[in-house]
Amino acid sequence: MSPAAVSDPGRTVLVSGNWKMNENHFEALRLVQELAAMLRVSGVPDGREVSIHPPFTSLRTVQTAVETDKVPVALGAQSCHHEMRGAFTGEVSAEMLAKLNVAYVIAGHSERRMHCGETDALVRAKVDAILVQGMRPIVCVGEVLEQRQSGQAEPHVRRQVLDALSGRSAETIGSVVIAYEPIWAIGTGETASVEDAEQMCAVIRDEVAKLAGPGAAASVRIQYGGSVTPESAGGLLDADNIDGLLVGGASLDAERFVSIVRATR
Ligand code: PGA
Repeated sequence: MSPAAVSDPGRTVLVSGNWKMNENHFEALRLVQELAAMLRVSGVPDGREVSIHPPFTSLRTVQTAVETDKVPVALGAQSCHHEMRGAFTGEVSAEMLAKLNVAYVIAGHSERRMHCGETDALVRAKVDAILVQGMRPIVCVGEVLEQRQSGQAEPHVRRQVLDALSGRSAETIGSVVIAYEPIWAIGTGETASVEDAEQMCAVIRDEVAKLAGPGAAASVRIQYGGSVTPESAGGLLDADNIDGLLVGGASLDAERFVSIVRATR
């Protein structure tokens, strides 16, 4: 691995809550109000940023609550379509999300790759659409257990990073977020060890360095995701190459999520 790939210690850590297909409109409002009350008391630590990613049906409600109550969180979405408009029944475009002041959009979550047939080419097209609309993609990459066991995890993850990001300017690449989510650790209670997570996040940074140079590698933010809890968050955030967390299950409980947001590095 190239020793040039080092993370900029001044970069902002991003903790994102991926609500997945949970929280109807009423529940989402209650959850964001609970978060607002807790964050009003405890605040978001300096150098840390928070995004929450409700289902599409709750985005407008959550946006209004966040903006009215000045909750210190950015609005995020879980996916979008790669075309801007047209005859795509049931889909939501990046432009529609941008108009709701969405700042971050997850692209290529493993559940969408697995259950909705999203290919690397489609993920790349979604990243294009998100960037065109001035939002930041959170590009998810990660291996299945068999790939890890057969020594294929690293080449697989490097290829996913390349497929999503190659051919873009160093500035653009440096502005995106990459989430390393080992698929065997998502929703299973099985967290990757800090060493395993750090090792793969360093590999991702190295791939970004090769692709776009040390400046982009230093500023790109790399999250870890997969069964993150308040107990595991501090250790993960302490690792040199982990610049944030993508949190599923634990983000549905305001108290647990705020503990993760405040976890000590
Ligand atoms: P989990 O989900 O924290 O429930 O494992 C993480 C994710 O899929 O983003």
